[in-house]
Amino acid sequence: MAYQVLARKYRPQRFSDVIGQDHVTRTLKNAIEQQRIAHGYIFSGHRGIGKTTIARILAMALNCRSAEQPTPEPCGVCDSCVEVRAGSSVDVIEIDAATNRGIDEIRELREAARYRPARDRYKIYILDEAHQITDAAFNALLKTLEEPPSHIIFMMATTAPEDIPQTIRSRCQHFSFHAVKFDDIVGQLASIAAKENIQADEQALAVLAEAGDGSMRDALSIMDQAIACCGTTLTAEGIRGLVGNIGSEVLEELMDTVNRSASEEALRLLDRLMTEGQNPAHFSRQFVRFLRNILVAKVAGEQSPVLQISADERARAGRVAQQFSEEDLARFLQIMLRTHDEIGYRQEQRFHLELGVMKLVHAQRILPLEQILSGVTPSAAPKNVSSPSNSSPRPEPQPQRTKPAVSPFEADRQRKDRGFGPEMSEPGPVTPEPTSSATAVAVAPEPAASKTEDAGIMLGQIVTELENAEHRTVADTLAAATANFENGVLTLTVAQPAAMVDLLMSPEVKRLANAAAGKAAGRNVRVNFVSGAAAKNGSATQIARPVSNGAGARSRAADDPVVRRMQEKFGAEIRTVIDHRSRN
Ligand SMILES: Nc1ncnc2c1ncn2[C@@H]1O[C@H](COP(=O)(O)OP(=O)(O)OP(=O)(O)O)[C@@H](O)[C@H]1O
Ligand SMILES: [Mg+2]
Ligand SMILES: [Zn+2]
Repeated sequence: MAYQVLARKYRPQRFSDVIGQDHVTRTLKNAIEQQRIAHGYIFSGHRGIGKTTIARILAMALNCRSAEQPTPEPCGVCDSCVEVRAGSSVDVIEIDAATNRGIDEIRELREAARYRPARDRYKIYILDEAHQITDAAFNALLKTLEEPPSHIIFMMATTAPEDIPQTIRSRCQHFSFHAVKFDDIVGQLASIAAKENIQADEQALAVLAEAGDGSMRDALSIMDQAIACCGTTLTAEGIRGLVGNIGSEVLEELMDTVNRSASEEALRLLDRLMTEGQNPAHFSRQFVRFLRNILVAKVAGEQSPVLQISADERARAGRVAQQFSEEDLARFLQIMLRTHDEIGYRQEQRFHLELGVMKLVHAQRILPLEQILSGVTPSAAPKNVSSPSNSSPRPEPQPQRTKPAVSPFEADRQRKDRGFGPEMSEPGPVTPEPTSSATAVAVAPEPAASKTEDAGIMLGQIVTELENAEHRTVADTLAAATANFENGVLTLTVAQPAAMVDLLMSPEVKRLANAAAGKAAGRNVRVNFVSGAAAKNGSATQIARPVSNGAGARSRAADDPVVRRMQEKFGAEIRTVIDHRSRN
């Protein structure tokens, strides 16, 4: 006999064989017992967790010929049951909406629905991937659902129930399926392995279940592949190799380098993985999951049911969680999630991954700006780089200050009172939009590893990022700009008239441009858009005009409490004072 894939061979044939969907099977069985049959059902949930399976069992239950009426325990051997199982019943029609999504099919279905079932009690339509049905087809379906003939039943299986029109949903009974629990998947895999004479230890089963990621079918398909490639003895290692996953001990190792701020070791570890053939996107996906589990272990404890991992992995998550604060872990997850997103559409995936991990290594030493400015003793003080063994973050004594700290609120108020204030940003490339009418650019001393001061490279970065963000018109316009970098300000001159420049360079574009230039330069950069067309007419309009010579403005900036605080904390110097009032 031809080899039948495990997922089909072990498709449950009775409600009681279905795992992890008790809330659905119980309700359906009760309803059948009481002969309360609906005309429309929606089964929704992730892929491979039993939606189609339950639709078929329900169809068997409704049409089983061994019983006088619909029965919660279909016999499985009568003509109807056998045909439903084989997918050949005339009265149980499965339509895959992903391929038959047209209105024609539904029209046909409406026609056919007018006739009585050929042999069985009900004419049952199972619409798989129902969210793919077109609106027009749904409308046709709605007509039937509004006044359903007594012998007609629709069952819709979908992973995206929100895409099914409300008018349809409100006429159906909706069951939402649960992701199958890790332990349940492992149990099912173990029992199938035993029936198939496959040797698979607990760890191997755990790796299969993890790779299945809540989907019973995916776990079974991977088991099929593993048997095909590795034979009847399955090992964790072999399965990992097959799906390209790394052991989480490697991720634990990586987190250890983060804990010790050991950038070089982290890079070497990544290098080893890439050399071994790990793909950056796949790796970062695993890493994100790992970090998420650690954060959960930190917040809810390693025994939390929110964690769907093996006992070994729980212990590991607990171990790693101990080494970091909750805030750190949340930040780590955020950093790696962003890195993962960026990797998705980037050319140099590996560099993004490396950068992400470097950010992680240093994240513990970067404090929220408000904390620093308000002078509050931070709960997670920056780690001293020279004593990296210091693992769990604890508050370090802050140097005594003589002046009382100015709260950010207070500083803001004072700034507003003067109609004048500094612009600054977190360490990092994002420069906030100026809020006041004049701005002093407080620039922190340049980091030792300043990347580039090349205006062309900054412009290139801006164009790339604008393209990535789908700002194509602006990107095209800027691609033809001339760039000049001076005193932390990148001036881009474009050929368009001033009004056009104003129109194109929306706040969002400005924000992206500032961030991109900052990224290329390795420090905060302010981008200025200038109209070259107007300049030729002798009336150049700058969007923000530096007035660095204005001595009055400079001294007012120097007096500003927030600027003073920046100087005190970071040794910042005032480079340029920009008067935004000259804009209008
Ligand atoms: N809850 C479950 N209990 C036992 N086996 C299951 C369960 N869910 C899925 N399976 C296994 O996975 C196979 C596929 O399940 P099924 O076709 O019902 O998934 P589905 O939810 O309809 O997925 P999709 O959204 O991809 O269509 C089944 O044949 C069965 O072997
Ligand atoms: Mg299905
Ligand atoms: Zn039967």
